[in-house]
Amino acid sequence: MTRVLSCIQPTGEVHLGNYLGALRNWVSGQDRADAFHGIVDLHALTVVDSPGVIGDDTLRLAAMLFAVGLDPDRATVFVQSHVPEHSQLSWVMECTVSFGELSRMTQFKDKSARREQDFISAGLFTYPALQAADILLYDAEEVPVGDDQRQHIEITRDIALRFNHRFGETFVVPRAVTPPAGARVMDLQEPTSKMSKSATTLAGCILMTDTADMVAKKFKRAVTDSESLVVYDPEHKPGVSNLLEILSACTGEAPSDLAGRYEQYGPLKSDCGHAVIETLAPIQERYRELLDDRGELSRLLTIGADKARRVATTTLDRAYAAIGLLPPR
Ligand code: TRP
Repeated sequence: MTRVLSCIQPTGEVHLGNYLGALRNWVSGQDRADAFHGIVDLHALTVVDSPGVIGDDTLRLAAMLFAVGLDPDRATVFVQSHVPEHSQLSWVMECTVSFGELSRMTQFKDKSARREQDFISAGLFTYPALQAADILLYDAEEVPVGDDQRQHIEITRDIALRFNHRFGETFVVPRAVTPPAGARVMDLQEPTSKMSKSATTLAGCILMTDTADMVAKKFKRAVTDSESLVVYDPEHKPGVSNLLEILSACTGEAPSDLAGRYEQYGPLKSDCGHAVIETLAPIQERYRELLDDRGELSRLLTIGADKARRVATTTLDRAYAAIGLLPPR
Protein backbone atom coordinates (compact mmCIF):
# COMPACT_ATOMS: atom_id res chain seq x y z
CA MET A 1 0.00 0.00 0.00
CA THR A 2 1.15 3.49 -0.75
CA ARG A 3 2.39 5.38 2.27
CA VAL A 4 0.58 8.69 2.45
CA LEU A 5 1.23 11.47 4.96
CA SER A 6 -0.91 14.46 5.72
CA CYS A 7 -0.49 16.86 8.58
CA ILE A 8 -2.65 19.49 10.15
CA GLN A 9 -1.74 22.29 12.53
CA PRO A 10 -3.63 22.56 15.79
CA THR A 11 -4.56 26.19 15.42
CA GLY A 12 -8.13 26.74 16.52
CA GLU A 13 -11.36 25.15 15.52
CA VAL A 14 -12.20 22.84 12.67
CA HIS A 15 -15.04 24.04 10.43
CA LEU A 16 -17.44 22.48 7.94
CA GLY A 17 -15.19 23.43 5.02
CA ASN A 18 -12.26 21.52 6.56
CA TYR A 19 -14.51 18.54 7.13
CA LEU A 20 -16.34 18.29 3.81
CA GLY A 21 -13.30 19.47 1.86
CA ALA A 22 -10.58 17.36 3.43
CA LEU A 23 -11.11 15.42 6.65
CA ARG A 24 -13.87 13.30 5.22
CA ASN A 25 -11.47 12.17 2.53
CA TRP A 26 -8.90 11.27 5.14
CA VAL A 27 -11.49 8.94 6.63
CA SER A 28 -12.46 7.31 3.33
CA GLY A 29 -8.78 7.09 2.38
CA GLN A 30 -7.68 5.10 5.40
CA ASP A 31 -8.39 1.78 3.67
CA ARG A 32 -6.90 2.77 0.36
CA ALA A 33 -3.48 3.79 1.63
CA ASP A 34 -1.15 3.34 4.56
CA ALA A 35 -2.14 6.69 6.01
CA PHE A 36 -0.18 8.70 8.56
CA HIS A 37 -1.82 11.80 9.99
CA GLY A 38 0.22 14.13 12.11
CA ILE A 39 -1.08 16.87 14.35
CA VAL A 40 1.86 19.19 13.93
CA ASP A 41 1.95 21.07 17.22
CA LEU A 42 5.60 22.09 16.85
CA HIS A 43 4.73 23.90 13.65
CA ALA A 44 2.05 25.82 15.53
CA LEU A 45 4.76 26.96 17.94
CA THR A 46 6.14 29.21 15.18
CA VAL A 47 3.26 31.61 15.83
CA VAL A 48 1.97 30.85 19.35
CA ASP A 49 3.64 32.06 22.52
CA SER A 50 1.18 31.67 25.40
CA PRO A 51 1.27 28.65 27.70
CA GLY A 52 -1.32 25.92 27.39
CA VAL A 53 -2.85 27.03 24.12
CA ILE A 54 -1.22 24.52 21.78
CA GLY A 55 -1.83 21.59 24.11
CA ASP A 56 -5.53 22.38 24.39
CA ASP A 57 -5.88 22.86 20.67
CA THR A 58 -4.03 19.59 20.07
CA LEU A 59 -6.36 17.69 22.37
CA ARG A 60 -9.46 19.13 20.72
CA LEU A 61 -8.17 18.50 17.22
CA ALA A 62 -7.27 14.92 18.12
CA ALA A 63 -10.77 14.38 19.53
CA MET A 64 -12.24 15.79 16.32
CA LEU A 65 -10.09 13.57 14.07
CA PHE A 66 -11.23 10.46 15.92
CA ALA A 67 -14.82 11.74 16.08
CA VAL A 68 -15.04 12.16 12.31
CA GLY A 69 -13.95 8.56 11.93
CA LEU A 70 -10.20 8.18 11.78
CA ASP A 71 -9.56 4.77 13.22
CA PRO A 72 -6.29 4.12 15.08
CA ASP A 73 -6.35 0.50 13.90
CA ARG A 74 -6.27 1.56 10.28
CA ALA A 75 -4.62 4.97 10.21
CA THR A 76 -1.74 6.29 12.27
CA VAL A 77 -2.86 9.45 14.03
CA PHE A 78 -0.10 11.01 16.10
CA VAL A 79 1.04 14.22 17.72
CA GLN A 80 4.29 15.56 16.30
CA SER A 81 5.86 16.42 19.66
CA HIS A 82 5.21 12.86 20.90
CA VAL A 83 7.70 11.66 18.33
CA PRO A 84 11.00 13.37 19.22
CA GLU A 85 12.59 12.16 15.98
CA HIS A 86 10.85 15.07 14.20
CA SER A 87 12.97 17.58 16.10
CA GLN A 88 16.07 15.46 15.69
CA LEU A 89 15.76 15.00 11.95
CA SER A 90 14.77 18.62 11.56
CA TRP A 91 18.29 19.73 12.47
CA VAL A 92 19.73 17.42 9.85
CA MET A 93 17.29 18.95 7.36
CA GLU A 94 18.38 22.46 8.35
CA CYS A 95 21.92 21.48 7.50
CA THR A 96 20.84 20.08 4.15
CA VAL A 97 18.85 23.10 2.98
CA SER A 98 20.42 26.44 2.18
CA PHE A 99 19.66 29.86 3.59
CA GLY A 100 18.91 30.98 0.04
CA GLU A 101 16.37 28.21 -0.54
CA LEU A 102 14.56 29.02 2.70
CA SER A 103 14.59 32.73 1.80
CA ARG A 104 12.69 32.01 -1.39
CA MET A 105 9.74 30.32 0.33
CA THR A 106 6.67 32.37 -0.48
CA GLN A 107 4.89 31.26 2.69
CA PHE A 108 7.72 32.68 4.81
CA LYS A 109 7.71 35.92 2.85
CA ASP A 110 3.92 36.26 3.19
CA LYS A 111 3.74 35.29 6.85
CA SER A 112 6.64 37.44 7.94
CA ALA A 113 5.30 40.41 5.96
CA ARG A 114 1.89 40.01 7.59
CA ARG A 115 3.43 39.92 11.07
CA GLU A 116 5.21 43.22 10.39
CA GLN A 117 5.84 44.68 13.89
CA ASP A 118 5.29 41.30 15.52
CA PHE A 119 7.94 38.87 16.67
CA ILE A 120 9.12 36.81 13.71
CA SER A 121 10.62 33.62 15.07
CA ALA A 122 13.54 31.91 13.37
CA GLY A 123 11.25 28.89 13.42
CA LEU A 124 9.00 30.61 10.91
CA PHE A 125 12.03 30.72 8.64
CA THR A 126 13.23 27.15 9.20
CA TYR A 127 9.66 25.78 9.17
CA PRO A 128 10.20 23.92 5.85
CA ALA A 129 13.08 21.95 7.41
CA LEU A 130 10.75 20.63 10.12
CA GLN A 131 8.14 19.90 7.48
CA ALA A 132 10.71 17.98 5.43
CA ALA A 133 11.53 15.96 8.54
CA ASP A 134 7.81 15.19 9.02
CA ILE A 135 7.62 13.80 5.53
CA LEU A 136 10.96 12.01 5.15
CA LEU A 137 10.75 10.31 8.56
CA TYR A 138 7.82 8.23 7.36
CA ASP A 139 9.15 7.28 3.92
CA ALA A 140 6.01 8.95 2.61
CA GLU A 141 5.52 8.41 -1.10
CA GLU A 142 2.59 10.76 -1.45
CA VAL A 143 1.76 13.98 0.32
CA PRO A 144 -1.69 15.33 -0.55
CA VAL A 145 -1.54 19.11 -0.36
CA GLY A 146 -3.21 22.22 -1.67
CA ASP A 147 -1.40 24.66 -3.92
CA ASP A 148 -0.15 26.70 -0.96
CA GLN A 149 1.99 23.77 0.18
CA ARG A 150 3.45 22.66 -3.16
CA GLN A 151 6.60 24.70 -2.68
CA HIS A 152 7.20 23.00 0.67
CA ILE A 153 6.97 19.58 -0.94
CA GLU A 154 9.30 20.72 -3.72
CA ILE A 155 11.92 21.81 -1.18
CA THR A 156 11.47 18.51 0.69
CA ARG A 157 12.24 16.66 -2.54
CA ASP A 158 15.31 18.83 -3.09
CA ILE A 159 16.49 18.14 0.45
CA ALA A 160 15.93 14.38 0.08
CA LEU A 161 17.79 14.26 -3.23
CA ARG A 162 20.67 16.35 -1.87
CA PHE A 163 20.99 14.19 1.23
CA ASN A 164 20.87 10.98 -0.82
CA HIS A 165 23.50 12.41 -3.13
CA ARG A 166 25.79 13.44 -0.25
CA PHE A 167 25.40 10.45 2.02
CA GLY A 168 23.91 7.65 -0.11
CA GLU A 169 20.36 6.45 -0.71
CA THR A 170 18.53 7.10 2.54
CA PHE A 171 15.24 8.86 1.98
CA VAL A 172 12.24 8.09 -0.17
CA VAL A 173 11.69 11.11 -2.44
CA PRO A 174 8.04 12.07 -1.91
CA ARG A 175 5.66 13.59 -4.40
CA ALA A 176 2.91 16.10 -3.89
CA VAL A 177 -0.47 14.81 -4.98
CA THR A 178 -3.74 16.62 -5.39
CA PRO A 179 -6.08 15.42 -2.68
CA PRO A 180 -9.29 13.76 -3.88
CA ALA A 181 -11.69 16.61 -4.62
CA GLY A 182 -13.84 17.27 -1.60
CA ALA A 183 -16.63 19.77 -1.54
CA ARG A 184 -15.55 23.35 -2.05
CA VAL A 185 -17.34 25.03 0.79
CA MET A 186 -17.52 28.81 0.63
CA ASP A 187 -18.24 31.38 3.32
CA LEU A 188 -22.00 31.69 3.85
CA GLN A 189 -21.73 35.48 4.07
CA GLU A 190 -19.16 35.92 1.35
CA PRO A 191 -19.70 33.04 -1.05
CA THR A 192 -16.81 34.03 -3.29
CA SER A 193 -14.27 33.27 -0.52
CA LYS A 194 -13.53 29.87 0.94
CA MET A 195 -15.06 29.18 4.33
CA SER A 196 -12.49 30.21 6.90
CA LYS A 197 -12.42 30.69 10.63
CA SER A 198 -10.26 33.78 10.18
CA ALA A 199 -13.00 35.66 8.30
CA THR A 200 -14.02 38.91 10.01
CA THR A 201 -17.13 37.31 11.47
CA LEU A 202 -18.06 33.70 12.12
CA ALA A 203 -21.52 34.29 10.66
CA GLY A 204 -20.45 32.66 7.41
CA CYS A 205 -18.46 29.85 8.97
CA ILE A 206 -20.00 26.70 10.44
CA LEU A 207 -17.79 25.34 13.19
CA MET A 208 -17.92 21.59 13.76
CA THR A 209 -18.96 22.34 17.33
CA ASP A 210 -21.75 24.81 16.50
CA THR A 211 -25.08 23.96 18.15
CA ALA A 212 -28.05 23.02 15.96
CA ASP A 213 -29.52 26.45 16.66
CA MET A 214 -26.42 28.24 15.48
CA VAL A 215 -26.19 26.13 12.35
CA ALA A 216 -29.84 26.76 11.46
CA LYS A 217 -29.40 30.48 12.07
CA LYS A 218 -26.27 30.76 9.98
CA PHE A 219 -27.95 29.03 7.04
CA LYS A 220 -31.06 31.13 7.41
CA ARG A 221 -28.94 34.27 7.10
CA ALA A 222 -26.75 32.93 4.31
CA VAL A 223 -26.21 35.40 1.50
CA THR A 224 -27.97 34.49 -1.74
CA ASP A 225 -29.02 37.07 -4.30
CA SER A 226 -32.01 39.20 -5.25
CA GLU A 227 -33.46 36.80 -7.81
CA SER A 228 -35.26 33.81 -6.50
CA LEU A 229 -34.20 31.18 -8.91
CA VAL A 230 -32.58 28.01 -7.65
CA VAL A 231 -29.94 26.93 -10.17
CA TYR A 232 -26.49 25.52 -9.77
CA ASP A 233 -24.20 28.11 -11.32
CA PRO A 234 -21.17 28.80 -9.11
CA GLU A 235 -19.97 31.66 -11.26
CA HIS A 236 -23.14 33.72 -11.48
CA LYS A 237 -24.93 32.50 -8.37
CA PRO A 238 -22.19 31.72 -5.85
CA GLY A 239 -24.38 31.91 -2.74
CA VAL A 240 -27.12 29.58 -3.96
CA SER A 241 -24.59 27.23 -5.54
CA ASN A 242 -22.67 27.01 -2.28
CA LEU A 243 -25.83 25.93 -0.48
CA LEU A 244 -26.48 23.32 -3.14
CA GLU A 245 -22.89 22.11 -2.92
CA ILE A 246 -23.13 21.73 0.86
CA LEU A 247 -26.49 19.95 0.62
CA SER A 248 -25.00 17.71 -2.04
CA ALA A 249 -21.99 16.87 0.15
CA CYS A 250 -24.37 15.87 2.96
CA THR A 251 -26.87 13.89 0.89
CA GLY A 252 -24.77 12.48 -1.94
CA GLU A 253 -27.07 13.87 -4.65
CA ALA A 254 -25.72 16.08 -7.42
CA PRO A 255 -26.13 19.83 -6.87
CA SER A 256 -27.92 20.37 -10.17
CA ASP A 257 -30.40 17.56 -9.39
CA LEU A 258 -31.09 19.12 -6.01
CA ALA A 259 -31.61 22.53 -7.63
CA GLY A 260 -34.58 21.22 -9.61
CA ARG A 261 -36.40 20.50 -6.39
CA TYR A 262 -36.55 24.06 -5.09
CA GLU A 263 -38.38 27.14 -6.18
CA GLN A 264 -37.40 29.41 -3.35
CA TYR A 265 -34.34 30.09 -1.28
CA GLY A 266 -36.08 29.69 2.09
CA PRO A 267 -36.71 25.94 1.90
CA LEU A 268 -33.27 25.34 0.39
CA LYS A 269 -31.65 27.15 3.31
CA SER A 270 -33.62 25.26 5.90
CA ASP A 271 -33.01 21.86 4.26
CA CYS A 272 -29.36 22.69 4.02
CA GLY A 273 -29.27 23.59 7.71
CA HIS A 274 -31.04 20.35 8.62
CA ALA A 275 -28.74 18.22 6.52
CA VAL A 276 -25.68 19.79 8.14
CA ILE A 277 -27.14 19.43 11.64
CA GLU A 278 -27.75 15.74 10.95
CA THR A 279 -24.29 15.25 9.54
CA LEU A 280 -22.70 16.94 12.55
CA ALA A 281 -24.83 15.35 15.29
CA PRO A 282 -23.07 11.96 15.59
CA ILE A 283 -19.67 13.62 15.19
CA GLN A 284 -20.42 16.10 17.96
CA GLU A 285 -21.63 13.33 20.23
CA ARG A 286 -18.48 11.28 19.79
CA TYR A 287 -16.37 14.44 20.14
CA ARG A 288 -17.94 15.28 23.49
CA GLU A 289 -17.56 11.69 24.70
CA LEU A 290 -13.89 11.75 23.86
CA LEU A 291 -13.26 15.11 25.48
CA ASP A 292 -14.98 13.81 28.60
CA ASP A 293 -12.78 10.72 28.60
CA ARG A 294 -9.22 11.99 28.49
CA GLY A 295 -7.95 8.53 29.35
CA GLU A 296 -9.44 7.09 26.18
CA LEU A 297 -8.18 9.98 24.09
CA SER A 298 -4.70 9.55 25.41
CA ARG A 299 -4.90 5.80 24.81
CA LEU A 300 -5.79 6.43 21.16
CA LEU A 301 -2.96 8.93 20.78
CA THR A 302 -0.50 6.51 22.38
CA ILE A 303 -1.38 3.88 19.78
CA GLY A 304 -0.57 6.44 17.09
CA ALA A 305 2.62 7.67 18.76
CA ASP A 306 3.90 4.11 19.15
CA LYS A 307 3.23 3.26 15.52
CA ALA A 308 4.75 6.53 14.34
CA ARG A 309 7.83 6.12 16.51
CA ARG A 310 8.52 2.64 15.22
CA VAL A 311 8.86 4.04 11.71
CA ALA A 312 10.53 7.30 12.72
CA THR A 313 13.30 5.78 14.81
CA THR A 314 14.26 3.43 11.98
CA THR A 315 14.51 6.30 9.52
CA LEU A 316 16.44 8.54 11.89
CA ASP A 317 18.90 5.71 12.63
CA ARG A 318 19.32 5.19 8.90
CA ALA A 319 20.04 8.88 8.37
CA TYR A 320 22.53 9.12 11.27
CA ALA A 321 24.27 5.98 10.02
CA ALA A 322 24.42 7.30 6.45
CA ILE A 323 26.05 10.51 7.72
CA GLY A 324 28.38 8.39 9.80
CA LEU A 325 27.72 10.04 13.15
CA LEU A 326 29.61 8.15 15.85
CA PRO A 327 27.18 5.63 17.39
CA PRO A 328 26.78 6.10 21.16
CA ARG A 329 27.96 2.54 21.83
N1 TRP B 1 2.72 23.36 6.47
C1 TRP B 1 1.49 22.61 6.46
C2 TRP B 1 0.31 23.60 6.49
O1 TRP B 1 0.46 24.71 6.95
C3 TRP B 1 1.38 21.69 7.63
C4 TRP B 1 2.41 20.61 7.59
C5 TRP B 1 3.43 20.44 8.45
C6 TRP B 1 2.46 19.54 6.65
N2 TRP B 1 4.13 19.31 8.13
C7 TRP B 1 3.56 18.75 7.02
C8 TRP B 1 1.69 19.18 5.55
C9 TRP B 1 3.91 17.60 6.31
C10 TRP B 1 2.02 18.04 4.84
C11 TRP B 1 3.13 17.26 5.21
O2 TRP B 1 -0.76 23.23 6.10
